[in-house]
Amino acid sequence: MRFEIVTIFPEFFTSIFENGILRRALAEGLVSVGVHDLRAFTHDRHRTVDDRPFGGGEGMVLKPEPLAEALASLGIQPKAARQKGPQAADSISSEGGGGFNPRIKPQSIGALAPEEKLVIEPVLYQGTTLQLAEKLEIEPVLCQGTTLVVPQMQQQERGALATEGSYSEKSPSRPHVILLSAQGRPFTQAMARELAATERVVLICGRYEGVDERVNELYCDMELSIGDYVLSGGELAAAVVVDATMRLVPGVLGNEASGDFESFGVADAEIAAADDGVPRSQHGAGGLLDYPHYTRPAEFGGLRVPETLLNGDHAQIRRWRREQQLRKTLANRPDLLEGAALSKEDRKLLESIRQEIG
Ligand code: 6GU
Repeated sequence: MRFEIVTIFPEFFTSIFENGILRRALAEGLVSVGVHDLRAFTHDRHRTVDDRPFGGGEGMVLKPEPLAEALASLGIQPKAARQKGPQAADSISSEGGGGFNPRIKPQSIGALAPEEKLVIEPVLYQGTTLQLAEKLEIEPVLCQGTTLVVPQMQQQERGALATEGSYSEKSPSRPHVILLSAQGRPFTQAMARELAATERVVLICGRYEGVDERVNELYCDMELSIGDYVLSGGELAAAVVVDATMRLVPGVLGNEASGDFESFGVADAEIAAADDGVPRSQHGAGGLLDYPHYTRPAEFGGLRVPETLLNGDHAQIRRWRREQQLRKTLANRPDLLEGAALSKEDRKLLESIRQEIG
């Protein structure tokens, strides 16, 4: 899967992508990320991305034009245009949802010198014509709702694409355009699971006091928040969404999960990732918080590791861990218990824990 991040702080993401599981996932090609500098889509000397709010008030608002241009450069059209498609898989139409956007910035395409080779990604998105794919001698794997981003292309090819229109195909999923803002719907594990099954996810990082609402209305499928607190921008939230999502992409955690995303009813990837067969925490998906973990030494700071974990009785360990999950959830997130899938035994246990703690 691929993330496209639109931000005024592209450098923010470098350290995040250079470490840990994400670094490996990127290196192995399981996930790819494009970070796009919003200021590259301004045209004034000061590279202005924000302006004062109509109606007055504090702070600045991100202007719609640079964002619209950034999205166009990624082949993202307004929702209304996207929803016109899809056409039949074998037809090329001039009025589809795709089409190469002629507003794409010349400097991000460039002119092709006669002997220069065209560097191109092997996946073609909506908006790419079959003729171009043939010309380039690449296998046309087409994804609905996105447009091929070609780094370098000849002027007449651009013109041809603009007039030839779009090619649509039944596809795994169309790109999901997400605006990150404190006003968004709360991000959950269930959403991460859905995004992990999406071919291409575009994350727009809000800044300042906000983003011109027309960007949300025209382009965004969802407005997302990572919690009930105010951040100074969407960059941290985008990093959170990328991290939580990409670890659910099959192969990223080293588990060979099924490629059939539709069957990911209850977080198979996460369950498979647990080495002991005990499900990990599954917030918002009928799950409980995780149980506590211990490693050597068996005694530390005057505290011993619970005896149960040392005696090798797996059934007993499973029961102990389940009880700890219930205790932790009751203490820290009692709200999760309402939606949790609890067995009769769980409920009895919970009742006795409640009585014990009064
Ligand atoms: Cl996505 N953005 C901002 N600015 N603040 C937030 C947030 C996002 N999620 C929680 N707080």
